[in-house]
Amino acid sequence: MTRNTELHARRLAATPRGVGVMCDFFAQRAENASLWDVEGREYIDFAAGIAVLNTGHRHPRIEAAIAAQLKQFTHTAYQIVPYESVVTLAERLNALVPISGPVKTAFFTTGAEAVENAVKIARAHTGRAGVVTFGGGFHGRTLMALAMTGKVAPYKIGFGPFPADVFHVPFPSAIEGVSAADSLAALARLFKTDIEPQRVAAIVIEPVQGEGGFNVAPTELLQGLRALCDAHGIVFIADEVQSGFARTGRLFSMQHHGVEPDLITLAKSLAGGMPLSAVSGRAAIMDAPAPGGLGGTYAGNPLAVASAHAVLDVIADEQLCERAAALGARLVARLLGAKESNPAIADVRAQGSMVAIELRDPATGAHDAEAVKRVQARALAQGLLLLSCGMYGNVIRFLYPLTIPEALFDRALDVIDEALQA
Ligand SMILES: Cc1ncc(COP(=O)(O)O)c(C=O)c1O
Repeated sequence: MTRNTELHARRLAATPRGVGVMCDFFAQRAENASLWDVEGREYIDFAAGIAVLNTGHRHPRIEAAIAAQLKQFTHTAYQIVPYESVVTLAERLNALVPISGPVKTAFFTTGAEAVENAVKIARAHTGRAGVVTFGGGFHGRTLMALAMTGKVAPYKIGFGPFPADVFHVPFPSAIEGVSAADSLAALARLFKTDIEPQRVAAIVIEPVQGEGGFNVAPTELLQGLRALCDAHGIVFIADEVQSGFARTGRLFSMQHHGVEPDLITLAKSLAGGMPLSAVSGRAAIMDAPAPGGLGGTYAGNPLAVASAHAVLDVIADEQLCERAAALGARLVARLLGAKESNPAIADVRAQGSMVAIELRDPATGAHDAEAVKRVQARALAQGLLLLSCGMYGNVIRFLYPLTIPEALFDRALDVIDEALQA
């Protein structure tokens, strides 16, 4: 038995199957865009801990920031004894998020918690219950976030009933024949068939759907939602947990559209691998919950906050927004080249380095999740870790660290080319 197979067997015996695990090898160490397993095999990491490592594994500046904080204190519970680094991080995020006027930020631990708290804040502000989200959207695994998630298998099966007053409308998708106008029409219909807009607290949208397949929201939709929210006093929440922190070529995806949300949820690459999430938003809305209504024992953990400060420094100093745009353009060019000779590649879509391809059976047009698995297996055999996504599991997403060395990126592009041979 190898070390990996031994650990795999122990994992199956000791942990429940509900925590699905993609790889049958175990991590030993990692650096920037490379990861080594316990048997010493090297992988190029195009999963980046599911979009958490825009600044790579163990960036020296992030490591140093965490190490320095480790020598000061690791936990006081911010709600009991506060510390300056949280205030400073809030000030930095308030200045960076694409919301004008006075902004405040509250910290939490996971993306799902950020989403749940954004809904709590919107409800406290409006005194309303309704929440509108989108088909194919993913907002997390806690019960309210699950209710908002627009994908049944595998996330929602067996876990209902879900909190009430959550509604889904279709997300635009050119390949599925759904336009922004269709989505807005569905929303107008929802206001006739299910809930009056005066009872809706929030509309929550990912400007680029993550788990849903890297579908990019058209500007027209976001403008339409902004107008509806303004007309009816609804809180506009942008869930940028996956699209945030330079991934799309801007610090936040909403900046591509010139549309301001009222609240924005942040997590994943915010703290470069440390557990930290946040809700930033208009101060008047953020201040709606009464003292004690928000928080959490680990919310704003000092090590994670130190890491987030270093992440923001690295993104700025290494110009990672610009790099995301450049790397994404190179990958898209290669994928469009592959599409010429491989009719199974039905779509190539991207915003910056949030890049994906959709695979379909060329004969029938059916969503082809099996083809995705074959490409993933071929890439993995060459040492490249790729993730799938999409409502039908037939999308491959590319989530390399934005700090990836050029030569390693080139090697990965060659592996992708080879894995996509028809
Ligand atoms: C857009 C979005 N929102 C929320 C979440 C939930 O984040 P977490 O897994 O940290 O709870 C995710 C996770 O993939 C996400 O992509």
